[in-house]
Amino acid sequence: MTNGPHKFVAGFGAIASGVVQRAKVSGVLRNPLVRYAMLAIAATSIMIVALSPLTSIMVEGWSRRDIDLRSRLVFQSIRDQLASGMVANSGFDLVPFFERFAEDERLMALGFCTEDGELRYATKRLPKSVSCMDLARAKTDTFAIASDQDRRIHISVFPVNAGSVNGHLLVLHDLGYVDERTREARLYAVFSLIGVAVGLGMLATAFVLALMRGWTRSIRGAIAIARHGGDIAGRQRGHFPISRELHALLSELRVEPKFADGIHVEWSPKTLHRLLGEELPGAEVLVVSNREPYIHNHANDSISLQIPASGLVAALEPVMRACGGTWIAHGSGSADRETVDRNDRLRVPPADPTYTLRRVWISEEEQDGYYYGFANEGLWPLCHIAFVRPNFREGDWNQYVAVNERFANVVVQEANCQDPIVLVQDYHFALLPRLIRSRLPRATIITFWHIPWPNSETFGICPWREQIIDGLLGSTILGFHTQFHCNNFIEATDRFMESRIDREAASVTLRGHETLVRPYPISIEWPPAALARQAPVQECRSAVAQRYALPADARLVIGIERFDYTKGILDRIRAVDDLLCRQPEWKGKLVFIQAAAPTRSKLGAYRALQTEAESLVDQVNARHGDGTYKPILLVIRHHEPDEVFELFRAADICIVSSLHDGMNLVAKEFVASRDDEQGILMLSSFAGASRELSEALIVNPYDTHGMAEALSAALRMPEGEQRDRMRLMRDQVRQRNVYRWAAQMLLDAARLRRRERIIAASATK
Ligand code: F6P
Repeated sequence: MTNGPHKFVAGFGAIASGVVQRAKVSGVLRNPLVRYAMLAIAATSIMIVALSPLTSIMVEGWSRRDIDLRSRLVFQSIRDQLASGMVANSGFDLVPFFERFAEDERLMALGFCTEDGELRYATKRLPKSVSCMDLARAKTDTFAIASDQDRRIHISVFPVNAGSVNGHLLVLHDLGYVDERTREARLYAVFSLIGVAVGLGMLATAFVLALMRGWTRSIRGAIAIARHGGDIAGRQRGHFPISRELHALLSELRVEPKFADGIHVEWSPKTLHRLLGEELPGAEVLVVSNREPYIHNHANDSISLQIPASGLVAALEPVMRACGGTWIAHGSGSADRETVDRNDRLRVPPADPTYTLRRVWISEEEQDGYYYGFANEGLWPLCHIAFVRPNFREGDWNQYVAVNERFANVVVQEANCQDPIVLVQDYHFALLPRLIRSRLPRATIITFWHIPWPNSETFGICPWREQIIDGLLGSTILGFHTQFHCNNFIEATDRFMESRIDREAASVTLRGHETLVRPYPISIEWPPAALARQAPVQECRSAVAQRYALPADARLVIGIERFDYTKGILDRIRAVDDLLCRQPEWKGKLVFIQAAAPTRSKLGAYRALQTEAESLVDQVNARHGDGTYKPILLVIRHHEPDEVFELFRAADICIVSSLHDGMNLVAKEFVASRDDEQGILMLSSFAGASRELSEALIVNPYDTHGMAEALSAALRMPEGEQRDRMRLMRDQVRQRNVYRWAAQMLLDAARLRRRERIIAASATK
């Protein structure tokens, strides 16, 4: 009885191992090479089985005719002597005479039978089984095969008439050598067939390989033409039917270039890396931005590492990890100088270095003019419609020019070739493309403007508008998040510059240099690295509820960003207030956590925002809260990506209510963090992200009551609807991830580089 379970387990094991074996065998059988080899072996075996009896029949027939002839020759050569000996002397003994003949190695025996069936003379090896009685009846020469003790014997019988003595001469051959010969012939035939099969196989393989090489060449040519926009129908028609079909197919695909260009490519670090290798082989990649991806700060007695709260860093960092190269940025951390080598470089990410960070030092005075002044008090409010007045000061402008020049010199220092690919980032470096172009004329400069570009009336406010546009038009490609911002830039160029604008090709030519102006909606890495380190959603909720002492079962609404006046932080606080006024049943059951990272605090507008936000939160909490319950928690500090993702996962609703935003990657990060397909995104229609994430609840942040209504709808949204919306948004972010963003710019750059090379080559002819 006790054996029962063991037997069961053993039996199950045997079945399982049988299944595994079968699975392995069927896996091997699926290999086309194995299948073709087995087919060839089977065909050869069938031919061998069919042809080997034929060989035996042929050899046997041929040997028998040979022996018949030999026997007759023996008979003819002894017939006369035999007759005359017997006629002359009836006591004549023929045995010694016969034995001499039988010395021949193939001749086995000779004998003479009288007419009465008596064996009168016989050599020693004549088998006992041979009987004269049967043979004596033969009237003519007769040949037969008989068996004796497992061997085959050929017996030839010749009638002899010698007057009074008549009889038959028996000539016997052992057929052993014929059998041996048949075996050998069969063996040769088998080997020959195998040889022929192997030879034919090799010939066929060589032929197929040659054929395939032709096809591959033809396919490569067709794809190259298709990829580079050539006329497939008219050129490169192959001689093979497959080639013609392929050309037709590729022609069809060209009708939908977008389809071939990316939608069906799963963009990842791997595909991006491959793209670089294939489309831009050996190209050197340099990135320039103000914000660095890793900041080292003094913290008590040690040095801490900080990843800044920056959409630019969140997007560019994974791209650099995939591509390698050098990232040139302002070293802004208090311990940054202590963590670089003597060339101001360090390898990053610190845990697993894949690219170089080159830090550039900026004095406080320069920082005040270039970063706080011209970039953030001038260009930032100019480009964002957030109704904060831009301030332009000449001193700031001069610092801006000087710092741009410093970075241009560093680019030249870091470049190891004359034609690197330089990715210039954002409004801090509007002059840099032109400055790099004058130092490295063959560089491919891709500039990306991460913030909106205003309409031309607004842009016209800037006293250095021409210099800004001129600087940017040093780029090979100038990218914005949306077509709308591209149009605004082209309008401003049209209005303020003497240039040639080709609206169809979306390009601007200034002093003979052409710049493409294209939309490239930025995104995030997929899957986000921080997600891999997250606990299940329920655990995130409990951790956040405990940390912030949330009421049991409270619905959680969050907002996470830099404390910037463009983000609409005040507007969402007002919307929560409005909801609690109109629907007081939510009091005690709803908490809004606003995590805000301090930013640009040196500037009055930012300090004023913080003061206003704090006082507004106090008012709302006083109006709707009590001793323990606070409907709004304002958490002003930097949050590392892991904390940000935990908050995203704990939330029921995430509000992104930018008053104006190029893209807003917080919206995409929230969607990416929700692998449970739950949670609702409330998204401003003035953020570029709303063009892609249309399943979010799209809101106007200036409409307080409208936002409160959307919040109310979100709080009541059934799980099924949340899932449907979240699924679609997740698909969108997965497919249009940051690798695709980089790939699209690099693909355009590769095409332009090829075109430039062709033009340069034809100019030298
Ligand atoms: O939106 C432009 C941008 O460069 C973002 O990419 C980023 O989130 C933010 O500004 C960073 O600002 P700063 O580097 O001044 O902190």
